[in-house]
Amino acid sequence: MRTNIDKIRIITVEEVIDESPTVRTLIFKDELCAAAKPGQFAMVWIPGIDELPMSVMISEKDGYAGLTIRKHGYASTALYNTIVGSLLGVRGPYGKPFDISKGRVLLVGGGTGLVPLLRLARELVKRKSKKTHVSLIIGARTKEEVIFEKIAKSVLKNVNSKIIVTTEDGSYGFHGLATDAAAKVMERNNLSMVYACGPERMMKKILEMATSYKIPSQASLERIMKCGIGICCSCCVGKYLLCKDGPTMYGETVLGLPEFGSYARDKSGRITNMW
Ligand SMILES: Cc1cc2nc3c(=O)[nH]c(=O)nc-3n(C[C@H](O)[C@H](O)[C@H](O)COP(=O)(O)OP(=O)(O)OC[C@H]3O[C@@H](n4cnc5c(N)ncnc54)[C@H](O)[C@@H]3O)c2cc1C
Ligand code: FES
Repeated sequence: MRTNIDKIRIITVEEVIDESPTVRTLIFKDELCAAAKPGQFAMVWIPGIDELPMSVMISEKDGYAGLTIRKHGYASTALYNTIVGSLLGVRGPYGKPFDISKGRVLLVGGGTGLVPLLRLARELVKRKSKKTHVSLIIGARTKEEVIFEKIAKSVLKNVNSKIIVTTEDGSYGFHGLATDAAAKVMERNNLSMVYACGPERMMKKILEMATSYKIPSQASLERIMKCGIGICCSCCVGKYLLCKDGPTMYGETVLGLPEFGSYARDKSGRITNMW
């Protein structure tokens, strides 16, 4: 019998990991989330508060998955404050995953945008060939906001790879923006694909650069999501519904969307400048 992924499953938070002063990962057991494809998201119900879309984080334990939350507004702060033993609801995983590319690839992630990229990195390692080479850029504002460097090293240990950490204030790693480091990788390597997830301005620059180097690219976009299954239209970007047609999309499609990098819709559907 086919499992109904739309039915809410109650999960228990079994571990809480502090990643930075504003980011935490909650680990829970759920076979469907554990098997999520790179780029897919879960709808997470915080009882009495709200339901949020969240990328599905990898876990080292079989059958387990994670949610990595940046403390932001009302709902994400409630999720961030969840303790071991708390009950949450999940449905999904939903959305179109990244297409997996062979050869030399570049992954550029800012903040919690690294979550789908780590799942992608794990998949690239599983499918590795002699030509596989993964460059991963971890972008952060400061040293204390750098997340997932250790886990990235562990995921990529059995494949030709390079991890570059960038901080805007130069307190750790490469001094500058993730886009500056990405430009250097793009000009020196013969890349077969560039993947990006993070702040929209960062993604726009990455996709534009990849286009100028004639490298295909994919990005994972964010918009307000309410249903997650193509009913409410809250996630529309141009003619696309991000929950069904995305969240991952090819650069050539994304760069053709006038609102990408300039405006979005708020929870009421009103057009707003979010950046
Ligand atoms: C596919 C997908 C995957 C995501 N994965 C993660 C993840 O792994 N970790 C994580 O921390 N967050 C993730 N998010 C974002 C998350 O769903 C929430 O939007 C975010 O946590 C803010 O929610 P809030 O209710 O706390 O903020 P609110 O109180 O609702 O909002 C605070 C401000 O942020 C704006 N805002 C809210 N949601 C969005 C949005 N989706 N895009 C742009 N602006 C927004 C609001 O308009 C408001 O100005 C993801 C979103 C999507 C669509
Ligand atoms: S979130 Fe409702 S249509 Fe996409």
